[in-house]
Amino acid sequence: MKNAVRIAALALLISVLSCFVIGSVDGTVVFNGTNQCPYNIIVCYTDSAATSASIFAAAGGSVAVQSPDPQVSLASAQIWAYPGSNVSLSDCVSAKPQADLAEFTINSSNNTDFYLISNVNAYNFGITINPQGNDSCPTPSCSIPNITNFCQEPNFLTGPLGDGCYNTAGSNVSPTPGTMAFANACPDAVSYLTDVTGKIFACPTGHNYEVVFSCS
Ligand SMILES: *[C@@H]1O[C@H](CO)[C@@H](O)[C@H](O)[C@H]1NC(C)=O
Ligand SMILES: *[C@@H]1O[C@H](CO)[C@@H](O)[C@H](O)[C@H]1NC(C)=O
Ligand SMILES: *[C@@H]1O[C@H](CO)[C@@H](O)[C@H](O)[C@H]1NC(C)=O
Ligand SMILES: *[C@@H]1O[C@H](CO)[C@@H](O)[C@H](O)[C@H]1NC(C)=O
Ligand SMILES: *[C@@H]1O[C@H](CO)[C@@H](O)[C@H](O)[C@H]1NC(C)=O
Ligand SMILES: *[C@@H]1O[C@H](CO)[C@@H](O)[C@H](O)[C@H]1NC(C)=O
Repeated sequence: MKNAVRIAALALLISVLSCFVIGSVDGTVVFNGTNQCPYNIIVCYTDSAATSASIFAAAGGSVAVQSPDPQVSLASAQIWAYPGSNVSLSDCVSAKPQADLAEFTINSSNNTDFYLISNVNAYNFGITINPQGNDSCPTPSCSIPNITNFCQEPNFLTGPLGDGCYNTAGSNVSPTPGTMAFANACPDAVSYLTDVTGKIFACPTGHNYEVVFSCS
């Protein structure tokens, strides 16, 4: 199990760095995006099977984020969001560096999925990852009450499209005062590239996942 966690951590780091395809397995996973904010958001999705999606989620609504073609192998997926109503894949790409991410590796080893919340780029929405159909699987959560108040130097508010707090030292491999601010606000979430101890969660393969976006 220790090995499996280490392999998953490495895979996630590689996917964060360069979106490499890691391992593969046939299967379909439905990622459900729920918008708890009082305004519309765009839910963005990308995976190692080269599927991308930009999906409108009305205030208070939920969407079934495009699941990969069952014929295509799915190894990893990332989900994030930005405020707005216009679906646009290129806006999703632009907003990604200004957003926190929900990240998944599916059946990464031994019929186990691994998932995490990453503030390595930035934070813009509260995220809770809610595995469906198994109450024993952990539900990590990150929510920062007042982003304006939270976002102090060397971190900074990005403005549109993501309207996030940029994590200036997120790509570092050791903690800094800037990344510690993220770690303290969100102990469940990865705050810099190798900050993975206790922040990678596991659930047996075969479940769908709800990603809840919230606003303060
Ligand atoms: C794989 O899963 C089985 C059943 O849960 C467990 O007994 C075994 O130790 C696991 N192997 C590894 C390498 O994690
Ligand atoms: C998403 O999941 C939630 C919680 O299980 C459910 O209430 C909602 O109907 C789902 N939405 C979609 C579009 O599947
Ligand atoms: C959304 O799309 C409409 C119609 O194309 C455009 O007028 C508007 O400026 C867009 N809004 C944003 C925030 O991009
Ligand atoms: C996970 O992958 C293994 C091979 O690596 C495969 O035998 C197994 O059926 C897969 N599990 C699920 C639930 O898809
Ligand atoms: C958030 O923090 C800012 C700066 O400290 C403050 O001006 C604002 O009133 C706060 N907003 C809320 C909703 O508490
Ligand atoms: C639910 O998840 C727990 C924790 O990962 C696991 O031990 C258990 O086998 C799972 N149950 C089912 C029915 O998948």
